[in-house]
Amino acid sequence: MYRQRILSLCLVVIFALGILAPMVGEAAEGNAEAGKKIYQQFCASCHGASGRGDGPAAAALNPKPRNFTDKELMSQKSDERLFNVIKKGGAANGLSPVMPPWGASLKDSQIWDLIAYIRTLAQ
Ligand code: HEC
Repeated sequence: MYRQRILSLCLVVIFALGILAPMVGEAAEGNAEAGKKIYQQFCASCHGASGRGDGPAAAALNPKPRNFTDKELMSQKSDERLFNVIKKGGAANGLSPVMPPWGASLKDSQIWDLIAYIRTLAQ
């Protein structure tokens, strides 16, 4: 009787881990390849094809779009911070309102893909 209880408890724990592990993993490892495609489509016009903040639309902007190749600056930004700015936009995070909110057009998983890609630019 007692043994069976422990056994079923173990099964519940294993089952829960199986569900939770991928959810945690998503934050840590978005897909940079997928992120690159989304970036070229929606972000490069301002942030530049190589992420230097020098896209065609950037010339007229002040402040300039973030330069993602600035390693020192980008290392101070947490993934959560980047996620919030991308999802809710600059204005909601005390930055320039020119940085649009993308929460309505991109899924959370796509935002994590973008972050994974952006992180490859500062190396
Ligand atoms: C219309 C131009 C424009 C587009 C398009 C744009 N951004 Fe931005 N973005 C900006 C500007 C301007 C800033 C700088 C805001 C500031 O410094 O106040 C910025 C800042 C950021 C930051 C910096 C956050 C921080 O805390 O330093 C991130 C991350 C970012 N953008 C990601 C993206 C991503 C990802 C996309 C595409 C999905 C995108 N942006 C599209 C203009 C743009």
